[in-house]
Amino acid sequence: MDKLKKEINERLIELLEPVKDGKVKDAMMYSLMAPGKRLRPILFLTVLKSYQIDYHYYIDIACAIEMIHTYSLIHDDLPGMDNDDLRRGRPTCHKQFDEATAILAGDALLNLSMNVVLNVDIDDSLKVKITKRLFQASGVNGMIYGQQQDLYFENKIASLDELKDIHKHKTGELIAVSMQLASIIACLDDYDKWTKIGFDLGLAFQIQDDLLDVLGDQNELGKAIGSDLKNHKSTYVSLLGVEMSQNLVIELFESCYENIYAMTINHGLILEILTFIIKRVN
Ligand code: IPE
Ligand code: IPE
Ligand code: MG
Ligand code: MG
Ligand code: MG
Repeated sequence: MDKLKKEINERLIELLEPVKDGKVKDAMMYSLMAPGKRLRPILFLTVLKSYQIDYHYYIDIACAIEMIHTYSLIHDDLPGMDNDDLRRGRPTCHKQFDEATAILAGDALLNLSMNVVLNVDIDDSLKVKITKRLFQASGVNGMIYGQQQDLYFENKIASLDELKDIHKHKTGELIAVSMQLASIIACLDDYDKWTKIGFDLGLAFQIQDDLLDVLGDQNELGKAIGSDLKNHKSTYVSLLGVEMSQNLVIELFESCYENIYAMTINHGLILEILTFIIKRVN
């Protein structure tokens, strides 16, 4: 995982090089190169590896996924959304720069991600398939829809089904798409299996995030504890309590393990990431 992370980070810097100098570039660089886990691009590249595919051809797609994720974090932290001051162990983008710059840096990362995907040297029909699914996942019926619903339910109590729908979209979509894109490249027949694994993992990941917002350590987490409470969000912890949420996370990971073992791939690589996520403290 460390090797992949290093390769992703190095390529991200190269991809930002042609951006014109200015505050927006500084802010893009600041947020993107802050110490994130790089989980989504690592998942994408690892699924490719699990089919013995040379992932180096696709590293720019991994970087595009991380750009979209980072844009979503910059905007998620803005005063009009979660109004948070700390991200990846540093002041949030709008705190370090200003709100206008943070909005533009988010927009710019999303735009750049599209160009990065379009510039990848692969067959055009494959590129169209990847582009379609990636921007569907991040778009208004995907991640953005989840963010909309998350904000709509502030100061209201969502039902468990409504909350599951929020988490599926705001977090599940970008995690699932990371596995789905690899499946589009490596083995279309397994697409539905990766979809199931991706959304189960995405839900588990966001329930963990809800738990860490209550139980985590700010220094380890790199973001403020109690953000959800402050914003009167519905979360798994607020609806089900800590223990039931923890049990649900375990069940979801068990489902992921089972479904991964049932596939004809190099399991070990994916299982290593799952184990890392299960134990995560940030
Ligand atoms: C944070 O994502 C936002 C959620 C969807 C919970 P990560 O926990 O992957 O954040 P980084 O990229 O490591 O900072
Ligand atoms: C954020 O969910 C999901 C996205 C950024 C799309 P949260 O608002 O819970 O994420 P954190 O806790 O701020 O990282
Ligand atoms: Mg949020
Ligand atoms: Mg937030
Ligand atoms: Mg959170």
